[in-house]
Parts: sequence; structure tokens; C-alpha cells
Amino acid sequence: MFILKEIKLKKEIKIFSPATVANVSCGFDVLGFCLDTIGDEMVIKKSNTKGIRITKIEGYSHKIPYETEKNVAGVSALALINDFKPDYGFEIEIYKHIKPGSGIGSSSASAAGSVYAINELIGKPYNTTQLTNFAMKGEAIASGTEHADNIAPAIFGGFTLVKSCSPLKILQIPCPPDLYATIMHPKIEVKTSESRAILPKKIDLKHAVTQWANLGSLIHAMHVNNYDLIKESLEDVVIEPYRKKLIPNFDLVKTKSMNIGALGCGISGSGPSIYALSKGKQKAKEVAIAMREIYSKTNIEFDIYNSSINMNGIKIINN
Ligand code: HSE
Repeated sequence: MFILKEIKLKKEIKIFSPATVANVSCGFDVLGFCLDTIGDEMVIKKSNTKGIRITKIEGYSHKIPYETEKNVAGVSALALINDFKPDYGFEIEIYKHIKPGSGIGSSSASAAGSVYAINELIGKPYNTTQLTNFAMKGEAIASGTEHADNIAPAIFGGFTLVKSCSPLKILQIPCPPDLYATIMHPKIEVKTSESRAILPKKIDLKHAVTQWANLGSLIHAMHVNNYDLIKESLEDVVIEPYRKKLIPNFDLVKTKSMNIGALGCGISGSGPSIYALSKGKQKAKEVAIAMREIYSKTNIEFDIYNSSINMNGIKIINN
């Protein structure tokens, strides 16, 4: 049986590994959602030589190392094969469309993509939680900590909540059908490690109470499709006040987006990208226009994306 299964398995796979928005205002380090219009492509091939080799990096390849032990896709893939112990290896090609340091899960897309693809090539012995665990090893070398709020939505799709990291427990949160995201990516680099370093080690109890009330009510609102309550809950009184200083025009973008009717607007992950969530595609487009208008007046290059919520996460492009 085993030999027959081996023969049927693919030798090569191409995947789309999506960008993600972590934190989502009130859910620092625990909440995230998956985008569907922006992501990396990766090709993973079985090789007769044991181990993991990064053979190609194109697109935003600047400063991304080829050494397996220094590359996030390589490190997560190593974590998987150290557990599975195949008597063959894998070659990884990365077509990087998500700029590193953009705040929309660039390193997570690479870390999650390699383990997802290898799992497919070896007959899917691992579940999504186990894959998230392997990918966290790769993410850790990029950000300095093992956190799963970008990796989980890339692998599971939709909105995810990291209930705990050890043991790893991921909850999939239902998502109202009309939720659309707008992403403004100012092309300045904000390193996750630096953006974490400016955060306080202790927070006021009153801010903590507000934050966990917001997170709880957001999760409830998502379950009952209550857009008004989503809007009331998308507030971050703990992290945003510190990090927004790193993002030019953050307050203006947020105020304009909310005036136009966005449900919420905040920092995507550790920045510099800004996300907004809106009810309906049309509203998300209007928010994008307002964001464009503001950034067009600066000398900062930027990209703007509109995206529905990607409910499936990483996708196989060929079969
Ligand atoms: N939760 C993380 C942070 C996401 O905000 O630092 C970035 O990797």
C-alpha cells in the first residue's frame, strides 16, 4: 500500500501563499485574517539529495538569504523534515511578491508556504496545526519570537485566533460574507523586531480591560454577523498609540477611512501597512481612493490593495 501511495505522489508543486493581516487592532499577537489578492508564489520540488535547498528567489529578493538555516522558508521546512525524516530532499523556489517588512505577513507567507507544499508532496501526514507549528520556527528567525497570528490565517484561511502557542491551539473564527479589506502599504521598512522593541513591557489595567472587552465583542460580532458591533470593537488602545508614530499620516488615513464609513482601520501587523475593513466591496474601494489621495501628496511610494477575505488560505496553483 505504502509503495503505491508513494508512486502517486507529485514530485513538484506550485502554490500561492497569501499575505495576511495580524493583530486586527484589538487582537495583538493572537488574531489575524487572510488576504486573497496579494501573495507569493513558490515551487517546491522533490530531490534525490537529502535536505532543503533554496534554489531561486525572485521578486522582492533583496537581502533574503539563500542559506537554508537563515531563510524562513528553509528553517520551517527543516523543522518538518527533521520530524518526518524522508530519505530524499526538497528544492524551494520563491517568487516574492510581498515586500519583506511590509506588515502583511511576508515572512509568514514563505514560512507557511514551504511546509504546506512539502506536506502535499509527502502525502499530507500533518494537519494544519502541526504545519503552523513548523512554520513558526521559520517566522521566529524573522521577528525574534514564535508567534502564529500571520501563519495561522495563511494556513487555515479566514480569521484565526491563536488560543495558545504552547501547546499550539488555533481557533477558526467565522467571518461575515460582506467583509472586505483595504490595505495601504507605504514603502518604508518597519522591522518587526524594532516595532516590538518600542512596546511597553507593562500596560495599564484599564487599557487591558478595554482591549479584552473589544476582542471578546469582536469575536462575538463575527459569529453573529453584527457589523455595527464589529465597528465598535475594532479599537486598539494598547499597541497602536506606540506604533502609529512609525507610520507617516497614520492618523489622517484612519480618520478619513472611518469618516467614509470603514468599520475599522488600524496597523496591519507590526506596520507600516495600514488595514481597513469595510462592509461591501464598494465601500472598501472608496476607502482605497481616500488612502491614495492622502499618500499621493507625500513623496513616499505606496501600494494599495482591495481584497476579500481568503477563506481557504494557501492554494495549489498547478496539479
Ligand atoms: N503580532 C505581530 C506584531 C505581527 O504585531 O508584532 C507581526 O509579525
